[in-house]
Amino acid sequence: MLTLLATALVSSTAVLAQGGAFTPLASQSFTYTALPYQADPNTGERGHQYGYNICNSTTQGQESLCQTAIINSIDDFCLWGPPEPNSLIGDTEGEAVAWCTKGGHGTRVIPEGALTGVQFMRTPDYIQVTGHIRQERINIAADDSGGEMDPHGADQRGNPLGGLLFSNAWGGGYVQAIEWHNFMGGGVFCLKACDPRGPNAARFCEHIFDRIGCAYNAPAAYEDGVFESCLGENQDFPGIYTSNGVVMTYTQPPESLGPISVRPYEPRIPASSSCTPYTSSALYTDAPPATGAAASSSSTTSRASTSTPRSTATRSTTGTSASATSTPGAGFVGASVSLSALLAGFFAFAVAL
Ligand SMILES: *[C@@H]1O[C@H](CO)[C@@H](O)[C@H](O)[C@H]1NC(C)=O
Repeated sequence: MLTLLATALVSSTAVLAQGGAFTPLASQSFTYTALPYQADPNTGERGHQYGYNICNSTTQGQESLCQTAIINSIDDFCLWGPPEPNSLIGDTEGEAVAWCTKGGHGTRVIPEGALTGVQFMRTPDYIQVTGHIRQERINIAADDSGGEMDPHGADQRGNPLGGLLFSNAWGGGYVQAIEWHNFMGGGVFCLKACDPRGPNAARFCEHIFDRIGCAYNAPAAYEDGVFESCLGENQDFPGIYTSNGVVMTYTQPPESLGPISVRPYEPRIPASSSCTPYTSSALYTDAPPATGAAASSSSTTSRASTSTPRSTATRSTTGTSASATSTPGAGFVGASVSLSALLAGFFAFAVAL
């Protein structure tokens, strides 16, 4: 098993190396006003970057393949979603495109009624948006328990390949959030963008806990029907918790061991303050109507799911722990086993050794 995974890693690195020097996506800095057409010009086992990073009025629209995302505020942020309807995150994480709350970024715009509860949170080290979503309206299959996107991946090209994230929330114009993570699925979402000036950006925006979802990677209130923008304290680093006064590190088991049936801790939800309430109709004025199957299917599937506390135990097709009741989903036990997930498990295992 370990040999197999190590071989897979070495061979994907070798393929990339044939095209010349390869620099991991998260080791590169980009300037918003001088972006390349594609941040990832490489070819590899996962092919080419699916879309592009130069996004403007000609790319704006619901067919956009823009892969430059923005997170500024509660009324101006993007999430990563599949380009084609009814997709699984596990199958399409490498080609996700930006779905934004506003026009003007050269992207798709999240259709009306998709976001049913949103909290924007600013802390000393990151900004974060969390909430509930009728995910089929941004092309995620209604029953997908989802997964994680971040600028890493087994081949270090990012999920999506070449995906970039910028924010003007830290002042000085658009700044690249080099470290970020975005979990989508199970009717919830979380996007955390770590301030690159902070010493712990890579830890707050950790990418190795891809199987335990928003609740563990981005603990927050997740109140459906509530739209608010808050200040807050930092979370614990994902995977770090304190038990009886002792700081502990969680090790995520590899997918080869089956569903995660036991989680030894409940993540701490940090204190928030200065929350400003909003109504969604005032926030998302650019939202186009929901169309096609997504519009009709959502009226049944999402209504039911948004009116009651979410249970990942019933949402997850592959059997999330029965003890994990009412935990926001987004990434619990993806139905498909991706190489990156396997390798994340491998590295966690290796570190534990
Ligand atoms: C608009 O974006 C497209 C796609 O990235 C690019 O080919 C084109 O050059 C851009 N137009 C301008 C004026 O920058």
